[in-house]
Amino acid sequence: MIKEYKKFIKDYMKLSQTSKKYFILMLVTATGYKVFAILRTLFAAWIIKYVTNTDLKMTTISIILVGLSYLFYHIMYIINIKVYGKNMEFCYTTLQTRLFNKVISVDDNFTKKISKGKLVNSINKDAIDIGDMCDQVTELYTTIVQVAIVEILVAIYSIPMAILLLIYTLIYIYIRNRVDRKGSIYFKKQKHEVDRYSNLFSQILSGLQEIKTFDMLDRLKHRLNEIKNKYSKSYIMKRKYFTIRDNDVRFITHGVKVIFYIILLLLMKNGSITIDILVLIIGYFESTVGYLDKIISITSKIREVNVSVERIDNILNYKNNNDIIYGDINYDLIDGIVEFNKVRFGYNDKEILKGISFKVKTNSLTAIVGPSGTGKTSIFNLLLRLYKPNKGKISIDDVDIYDYTKEVYGSNVSVVNQKPFIFNMSIRKNLDFVDSSIENQIEACKRVGIHDFITSLPQGYNTILRENGNNISGGQKQLISLARTLLSKSEILLFDEITSSLDPDTASHIKKVLKDLKKDHTIIMITHKPEMMRIADRILVLYEGKIVADGTHKYLLENSEHYRFLQARKSASKLGVFTDDKVL
Ligand SMILES: Nc1ncnc2c1ncn2[C@@H]1O[C@H](COP(=O)(O)OP(=O)(O)O)[C@@H](O)[C@H]1O
Ligand SMILES: [Mg+2]
Repeated sequence: MIKEYKKFIKDYMKLSQTSKKYFILMLVTATGYKVFAILRTLFAAWIIKYVTNTDLKMTTISIILVGLSYLFYHIMYIINIKVYGKNMEFCYTTLQTRLFNKVISVDDNFTKKISKGKLVNSINKDAIDIGDMCDQVTELYTTIVQVAIVEILVAIYSIPMAILLLIYTLIYIYIRNRVDRKGSIYFKKQKHEVDRYSNLFSQILSGLQEIKTFDMLDRLKHRLNEIKNKYSKSYIMKRKYFTIRDNDVRFITHGVKVIFYIILLLLMKNGSITIDILVLIIGYFESTVGYLDKIISITSKIREVNVSVERIDNILNYKNNNDIIYGDINYDLIDGIVEFNKVRFGYNDKEILKGISFKVKTNSLTAIVGPSGTGKTSIFNLLLRLYKPNKGKISIDDVDIYDYTKEVYGSNVSVVNQKPFIFNMSIRKNLDFVDSSIENQIEACKRVGIHDFITSLPQGYNTILRENGNNISGGQKQLISLARTLLSKSEILLFDEITSSLDPDTASHIKKVLKDLKKDHTIIMITHKPEMMRIADRILVLYEGKIVADGTHKYLLENSEHYRFLQARKSASKLGVFTDDKVL
């Protein structure tokens, strides 16, 4: 048990970053008010002693001392609470910030190991629990000190009584600890089920529309119920042990107490102790039971929070597979010449890109085409510096992309995906994250041709965008996301199948927008659509991780079997035939 504490305190101090100053202050004030609580009982016994001796002067002094003990007790207590609040606030916010920073920097293996439900719980509840622990830990230390002082005081008056108290203390701690330990096993299980439940639940919420259309709801409900049942079982077991603790153990305690008091009475009868000592010992005995309860309940709280500590520790100590280190080149006037030189890359052992080389000019529109799974998106992932190539070099303006600072790179290379990510906030707020200048926002929206539509909405730029909301179509969201990308003033724009789920009108609108944007950007787009390929200045045909053809639409039609195949296949889809992506 002591080892457990030690480990906990070490981990806890590391995690919470509780400053030593706060910890000591908490410890001192808690010790302070507890000592005054003990002294109060002693002085109260003095009152009885001096009253029975009719010593008026000492009685008065004793009463004053009782009063002073109360006063100091409260002063210490108030300081303790103030420090606690400050520390709690500090722990909670620093821990949350650290967790947040960690979570946004992890690679995608991370979410395979830790579920989203766990993450959300950790960032919220676990962080609060840990913030609370400084108080609990000092409480624990000081309560132990309190019990020790009481033991000593009782020993001064009666050695046999002190021995009895000690035996009682040990037995009580032993029994309660056992029961609590059992209870906490089920508590842990219960917590695990809560994680699973919230994870599944959040998945259901994010895919609700599809789930409904595919009629999966009943099975999912069944699955949720299974988890709930397991939760209930653990809950019932936990309650069982906690009932034993709260009822059965108490019952035995009361029995022991009665025996204890009978012994005390006998001692008083044969003159070994006086009435004031009787009062004092009974007082201390009663409060010792309270102290022990506190020690045990803090111990079990520590055990509970240990789960939180472990979880948060796991998150914070997660090591990215390929931590990418950024350089210090902060030259911001990038032209946007993108070059891949013999790039080889794979996610695990399987090689996806098998020696890719190409150079893209600035102010041009390049299309990357090829069947699904050949590695087109992987090229973008590399360009976004989400991974590092195993071999070869990727450069922008002849500088290795990993040599740029995070800031310069982030503001020069941007991506727009098939399903743009937008926050459930107003259009304006979504744009504000990139550039809060209203003039710039309007300019960007005009350039992608969405400004007039936005101003025609009743709420204009204050219209709230929702993930599954129907007030704005997918295409319009796509255009807003495009405007947001333009606001970033990136030279290099990457578009990953942005038109694949759009209606033909919006798609052809986007085509115009891209033609306009390439005048002052380097654009690389991944596309399946023949009509999108046609507007490209140059097309790279990717097949099984290699570039098998490279040229203009016209040139490739004449010279590339692969390209002809892609064009023919996609043209067929225009007639409503299913292809590997969508029906047009
Ligand atoms: N994060 C990843 N971890 C492991 N394998 C991946 C990951 N992303 C993609 N892959 C695999 O790499 C291959 C190429 O994927 P991708 O570049 O997305 O192809 P494309 O965009 O051409 O359809 C696929 O076989 C895919 O399963
Ligand atoms: Mg892809």
